[in-house]
Amino acid sequence: MRKIGIGIAGLGTIGLGVYKHLEGNRRLLTERLGLELTVTKIADLDPERPRTPMPPRELFTNDWHDLINDPEVQVVVELMGGIKVPYDFVTAALEKGKIVVTANKALLAERGKEIFALAAEKRVPVFYEAAAAGGVPIIKALKEAFVANHIRSMHGIINGTSNYILTRMSQAGLSFDAALKEAQAAGYAEADPTLDINGWDAAHKAIILASLAYGFWVDTNDIHVEGIQNITAADIEFAEKLGYKIKLLGVVKADEACVENCKVEVRVHPTLIPKDHVLASVNGVFNAVAVNGDVVGETLFYGRGAGQDATASAVISDIAEAAVALEIPRPNFGFVPHGLYAGCKPIDEVITPYYLRLAVVDRPGVLALITGILSEEQIGISSVIQPESSEEQTVPLVLMLHSAAQGRMNRAAEKIAALDCVKCPPQVLRVETFA
Ligand code: HSE
Repeated sequence: MRKIGIGIAGLGTIGLGVYKHLEGNRRLLTERLGLELTVTKIADLDPERPRTPMPPRELFTNDWHDLINDPEVQVVVELMGGIKVPYDFVTAALEKGKIVVTANKALLAERGKEIFALAAEKRVPVFYEAAAAGGVPIIKALKEAFVANHIRSMHGIINGTSNYILTRMSQAGLSFDAALKEAQAAGYAEADPTLDINGWDAAHKAIILASLAYGFWVDTNDIHVEGIQNITAADIEFAEKLGYKIKLLGVVKADEACVENCKVEVRVHPTLIPKDHVLASVNGVFNAVAVNGDVVGETLFYGRGAGQDATASAVISDIAEAAVALEIPRPNFGFVPHGLYAGCKPIDEVITPYYLRLAVVDRPGVLALITGILSEEQIGISSVIQPESSEEQTVPLVLMLHSAAQGRMNRAAEKIAALDCVKCPPQVLRVETFA
């Protein structure tokens, strides 16, 4: 039985999960692959830390160069976190001809273009199933199962922490802070939850999915990203009344006809989605990605997007693929640029319906002023809620607006914010109808 030497860089939660399940399911993997996956070296800055299971001490080094320089290590698994050191590690591994497996979405989103160019030049593949939606096999689906499709759209709940927080706010009436604390205690949030909350963890994943689907590596500067930090209990309640759930959604969408040379929207933001849409019932830490292809039609992928075991499952699937690629080389080194699409659509041109929540003084003429501004920008109103109150108090005013380009909506929101009768910055959220 041929042995494949694996080097793991970073034995944190995910790395340990990978080690544990490579050992635990060793016989199954060996039978299925006809190869033996053997961890031969582990680079970690803290080899002494007690772990369960504890790998043999002699496997450890605290210098990742030792993995690169060890001829027995054929596949390196990058689970370090951060960008600079992982970039140096991954590029050094490719230079040495070692196949790379990584779960690092920030690394690929920020430096993917260079990494895949080097992988193609060196003819050494990079695998990254765990970099988007954890245990949900969406990368392999895009690379293989949907190879015959122009992708019309992808709608993803791809940050478990945000989804957990929004779910707990909605179902248990928790405050944002209390829900975040719960998510951290359960180990779902990143060490620094900023990227979970401000939308960038989901954005990194959306960049990877969009790049794979459209054949150009999406630049972080060309996408629109908003997090859930400004979502209030009031927004969740109003959305419910109007028949919607609020989800942090990654939206990747080709222009209507989905023909070659069209532009692609890539955006991540809190979104009102109809309660009866299947994504509205994706709760807690679960992720889901709905993919619509021109040949296959609508598909849905659902599962755990975070956590030790689910992520380890994806990483090990990559290690298995890497092992097979050592036996039977193939021409795809992780990403194939093709230039059939025309790049990202600027956010100002993106058209959606909106939810607009204002805090206004309750007096005659206020609604007229606001609808006047919306009318100037040619934005239609589909419904209005204003709870009853005694006059002169500040009251919430919620308007559902018909589809308009983001540029016009921004201008309207700015003018509305400048009115004396408007007491807080307008809350503008996009609505996704999936039409
Ligand atoms: N912190 C991420 C999430 C998991 O909450 O989905 C890894 O990307």
